[in-house]
Amino acid sequence: MKFLIIGDVIGKTGRKALKYFLPELISKEKPDFIVANGENSAGGFGITKKVFDELISMGIDVITSGNHIWDKKEVFQFIDEEKRLLRPANYPPNVNGRGFEIYEKSGKKIGVVNLMGRVFMGIPLDCPFRTFDQIYEMIRDKVDYLIVDFHAEATSEKTAFGFYVDGRADVVFGTHSHVPTADEQVLPNGTAYITDVGLTGAVYSVIGMKIDEPIKKFLTGISEKYSVATDGFLLNCIIVEKNAEKNEIRRVKLVKE
Ligand code: FE2
Repeated sequence: MKFLIIGDVIGKTGRKALKYFLPELISKEKPDFIVANGENSAGGFGITKKVFDELISMGIDVITSGNHIWDKKEVFQFIDEEKRLLRPANYPPNVNGRGFEIYEKSGKKIGVVNLMGRVFMGIPLDCPFRTFDQIYEMIRDKVDYLIVDFHAEATSEKTAFGFYVDGRADVVFGTHSHVPTADEQVLPNGTAYITDVGLTGAVYSVIGMKIDEPIKKFLTGISEKYSVATDGFLLNCIIVEKNAEKNEIRRVKLVKE
């Protein structure tokens, strides 16, 4: 089984990078299952139905998310019905949408769980570690593979989570920081892990946004609305291969300046 996992797709520039790089990447790697974090895919904040359909039409099987999932209010109109769109599972009960789902691909059942960290996130969510335990007990016998998107700011929280679920999840990938980390590894009990996959979006940007806007904020302390950067584009992803002989994770970065 081969998984292609794409980090946070940032706005139109991110979608442009996917359109440019994904067809060749798919034909070269032949992944069985593709996951992308799409919480910033519409204008840099949130996701719309049109953008969701665009991502799915490119061959992405599941779109995960995080704190920005609610930014475009139209998401409330389709997230309850749309099984291929996940929001963090540790939002309180009765929040719209779903935090995990089981999919079928290449004759295998693949569980995907979306969780969000609590350190530096400012959102009073349930414990992601214990939420994972509960979901794992519910679905462990129903899936062949289990993938987790852990959407969090603190590298320590993500790394601790990776070790906490080592041997239970097949893949744990971090999102949210938009900056790729060079720590991809197979943990001692077999979980393929990376702290952050990194963004798919502009090359010259501050985490996907136009450079001058965050600089101005840091200089003045005044927040303004950020806009998606457009200079150059890149795709950051990981490829995870798991079978009887192989358990491998590798990073791929494709850049067009
Ligand atoms: Fe986020």
